[in-house]
Amino acid sequence: MDATITLIVNGQKRTVVTDPERPLLEVLREDLGVMGPKYGCGEGRCGACTVLMGGQRALSCVTPVGSANDKEITTIEGLADGDRLHPVQKAFLDEGAIQCGYCTPGMILSAVALLEENRRPTDEQIVEWMNGNICRCNGYAKILNAVRRAASQIKEVKRS
Ligand code: FES
Ligand code: FES
Repeated sequence: MDATITLIVNGQKRTVVTDPERPLLEVLREDLGVMGPKYGCGEGRCGACTVLMGGQRALSCVTPVGSANDKEITTIEGLADGDRLHPVQKAFLDEGAIQCGYCTPGMILSAVALLEENRRPTDEQIVEWMNGNICRCNGYAKILNAVRRAASQIKEVKRS
């Protein structure tokens, strides 16, 4: 049975009437036109659909939209502050860590979630955390550099 579900998507309140069991990813893309989160495997194994839900990393392809009711959802579209990119976005650009770009929104959201939890991750911690995000272009070395760079820049911002 359909239900009325309210999502706070990138700071905007959005309401949908839908089956609460539908994947959050499908509702974001098809009902709300939020195209940043990507469909990869559809079964929680590639990370392309990663978003932040209530500040925590979530795989939106396996998250029933009903469980997101009244929660803040952040997608790649909501990271920049006006024209100012989020430090993780900027680091991915600066390190050339984007090839076809399909994995990039999920990678960036995963990295943001990591740096929220751990501002000084070791390389091992970065690799372990990002393990669920697959890059079919095999850009892992540059992605690691980008997360490292973002971590150091966030530290500098915090210090100044
Ligand atoms: S599309 Fe969600 S984990 Fe692959
Ligand atoms: S940049 Fe192509 S899948 Fe990662």
